[in-house]
Amino acid sequence: MSRKILIYGGTGGIGSEIGRLLQGQGDEVYLVGRHTDKAPDLVSMDRVHFISGDVTSEGVFDQVMEEVGSELNGLVYAVGSINLGSLRRLGAEDFARDFQLNAMAAALAVKAALTPMKKGGEGGAIVLFSSVAAIQGFPMHASVGMAKGAVAGLTLALAAELAPRIRVNAIAPSLTRTPLAQSLLSNEEAAEALAAQHPLNRLGLPEDIAHLAVFLLSPEAGWMSGQIVSADGGRSSLQTGR
Ligand SMILES: NC(=O)c1ccc[n+]([C@@H]2O[C@H](COP(=O)([O-])OP(=O)(O)OC[C@H]3O[C@@H](n4cnc5c(N)ncnc54)[C@H](OP(=O)(O)O)[C@@H]3O)[C@@H](O)[C@H]2O)c1
Repeated sequence: MSRKILIYGGTGGIGSEIGRLLQGQGDEVYLVGRHTDKAPDLVSMDRVHFISGDVTSEGVFDQVMEEVGSELNGLVYAVGSINLGSLRRLGAEDFARDFQLNAMAAALAVKAALTPMKKGGEGGAIVLFSSVAAIQGFPMHASVGMAKGAVAGLTLALAAELAPRIRVNAIAPSLTRTPLAQSLLSNEEAAEALAAQHPLNRLGLPEDIAHLAVFLLSPEAGWMSGQIVSADGGRSSLQTGR
């Protein structure tokens, strides 16, 4: 049965890959981003709709839901930032901006979608994005680690509040080759050194993460809720001694 899935950050590296996979299996997808010219291959596809919007602007979530309509089966919030810096360099504005973009806007996106998701019937599912930086400590990650830790708390609270009708899970990726991580990976030597910090000895690819998101949205994940699932090449949990 075709479902209707809304993806904030649907033009990004991970969000657009989730969109491609869902479209390929017959779902109708709504992709939200500020620039609709990203992910150009998706523009001409059947059952793909673009909505232009900035998640930090007032009223955006109600506008998005007006375009999506009165019923919705799934929501993905794949907007985020990697704003790295020492505590000495980070200011209140950095913390507030990262918290708003990663965590607060995710909560408001879910809030605006609640009635349509309840109308969407049984099996509604939400996927949020945390990070390896909320599970393991890294220097320079105070702001993003704090914001992504908030996403983990939000996931648990919403999963409890919306059970049994709507499942809520989050994915915690490590460094994945997307435009978001580009500044860290532009030098191939640095990218290789970062890849080597992962027990599986490579960086993530958008499809590594997207397949997991598609699973979490599916009925096959019907007994999973309130989980923060790591997709991180073993970085947060394995010590291989290499
Ligand atoms: N890539 C990694 O290494 C990594 C690691 C850990 C966690 N994550 C998390 O995974 C999720 C997906 O990240 P990604 O790597 O796919 O990032 P990405 O390629 O940069 O995509 C981000 C998406 O969000 C949209 N976006 C950014 N700011 C927005 C705003 N203010 N309003 C509306 N849309 C906005 C972007 O489109 P526009 O710019 O056109 O708005 C784009 O569609 C994020 O939550 C990220 O924090 C990623």
